Amino acid sequence: MRKGLTTYGDVDFSLFLRKAFIKGAGYSDDALDRPIVGIIDTGSGFNPCHANMPQLIDAVKRGVLLSGCLPIPFPTISLHESFAAPTSMYLRNLMSMDTEEMLKAQPLDAVVMIGGCDKTVPAQLMGAASADVVPAFQLVVGPMVTGSHRGERVGACTDCRGYWAKHRAGLVDIEEIAQVSNELVPSVGTCGVMGTASTMACLSEAMGIAPLGSATAPANSSARLRIAEQTGKLAAQAARAGSASTPRTFLTRKSFENAITVLQAVGGSTNAVVHLLAIAGRLSGIDLTLADFDRIGRKTPLLVDLKPSGLNYMQDLHAAGGVVRLLSYLRPLLHLDAKTVTGSTLGEELDRFPLHDYPQGIVRPLSDPVFAAEALCVLTGNLAPQGCIIKQSAVLDRRLVRHRGRAVVFSSAADLAARIDAPDLDVDENSVLVLQNIGPVGHPGMPEAGYMPIPAKLARCGVKDIVRISDGRMSGTANGAIVLHVSPEAAVGGPLAVVRQGDFIELDVQARRLHLDIGKEEYDQRLADWKLSHGKGRLRVKGRGYRKLYKEHVLQAHKGADFDFLTADGGSDSTLG
Ligand code: FES
Ligand code: MG
Repeated sequence: MRKGLTTYGDVDFSLFLRKAFIKGAGYSDDALDRPIVGIIDTGSGFNPCHANMPQLIDAVKRGVLLSGCLPIPFPTISLHESFAAPTSMYLRNLMSMDTEEMLKAQPLDAVVMIGGCDKTVPAQLMGAASADVVPAFQLVVGPMVTGSHRGERVGACTDCRGYWAKHRAGLVDIEEIAQVSNELVPSVGTCGVMGTASTMACLSEAMGIAPLGSATAPANSSARLRIAEQTGKLAAQAARAGSASTPRTFLTRKSFENAITVLQAVGGSTNAVVHLLAIAGRLSGIDLTLADFDRIGRKTPLLVDLKPSGLNYMQDLHAAGGVVRLLSYLRPLLHLDAKTVTGSTLGEELDRFPLHDYPQGIVRPLSDPVFAAEALCVLTGNLAPQGCIIKQSAVLDRRLVRHRGRAVVFSSAADLAARIDAPDLDVDENSVLVLQNIGPVGHPGMPEAGYMPIPAKLARCGVKDIVRISDGRMSGTANGAIVLHVSPEAAVGGPLAVVRQGDFIELDVQARRLHLDIGKEEYDQRLADWKLSHGKGRLRVKGRGYRKLYKEHVLQAHKGADFDFLTADGGSDSTLG
């Protein structure tokens, strides 16, 4: 059992007391006289993505017991995308604090963190990186399988958006919407496309904190349970060996660069950019920036044919050999000497993993990519001095990657909801929709409202894509010519705040440029006026509780939207011993 827990002076008494209490749960001395593997339980009645949690915990326990250690599950909070108002991102940092503090508080020798739904894995990785007390293994719940609607294969949640867009355009009636809702989420598990959950699962494997081969097996498969058992075994081996392989020992800049390579190659969620920045921010000396994503992107084509950039689903990626096949194809672009949680390097792990060659069209070799250019691009310009993101592989109307159009400005998510479908909205297919004040501070939690709907009057005329710009996020399952994470955000006086109806905006993905074309003098004057009327932007926030903490301490998107006091350079808690 790990030393260093609070003892108030009498070490032996503390041990005696802990043992006496845990015996209340029926444990024998034989059971307690073993290394302990904690299992983080993020099941919740409000988290259908994690509904296989009981079976996974059983399987992890089996692996731990087979390897002679004692498994002890414990809960942390659970976040589901659809049941975490105002947005799960608002609660990600809270979950990371819960994870960090429970890892530090309890007597563990290793831990298996079971997560999956979008923000849960980033929160666990952030927490584990900050706690850094024991070897930590990420286990994901696995993706859901696909359903079938009137002969068409469907799955959450690119197809949810597709059907709703058709409904808005008058092509699908409300009865059909009710029918398809039975098939879009046909099993437990995380969204079956390359959304945030799938992306973070793949990145966890690439970073070496999840076992190789563990990201893609469906949530309801027997393979998923064997992966859970195996993860339990690996954690128990680390615990028995007294492994010193805590997250900070192997999560290096190389691990993050490998993760970004995989992110680009899978056409992963834009959210993963914010999450990787936040995880890296918890570790000193890594200094990851948006520029790293663009630089690595320029040499990494899209290799995986999954929605929303492609056509297929996670179970197809699994059948095609999963992340292991992808990593094998990416070998020339990876740091194979990056260490993993097992103590081996990524290259050594890959060498040990059997990979058979058979025809499949899901993971393509570097010589025959799905999309030759980089999936995620970082843009800057006078409208986003600290950068913003576009997933160009998911742009539906390719003409829009270079575009100049007049701004149609919405001042908030509520303003958007009130006016987007108004018959008199001054908009056409060349317009640029601008949504202000949905950044980390502005609409606390930076909601996924960046995926603005096509105005009804355009949708009915067959317009499927239009340039959209905001300081918010969009779901990893969404597609379109959508510029996100504009930093600094409008609510703290970023230039997005001063865009006005009718201004011309230029988007040029190739040139990595986002420009508000109003002339330097006018631009400076508007920003100065904004400052005069708003003060410094973020002063002390009225209110109480977590919302106050959040608004006062959240960092901008280009810094990962973590809390300033949680980053590696945000201070030290070493006085706690
Ligand atoms: Fe949980 Fe999509 S809602 S992963
Ligand atoms: Mg999502």
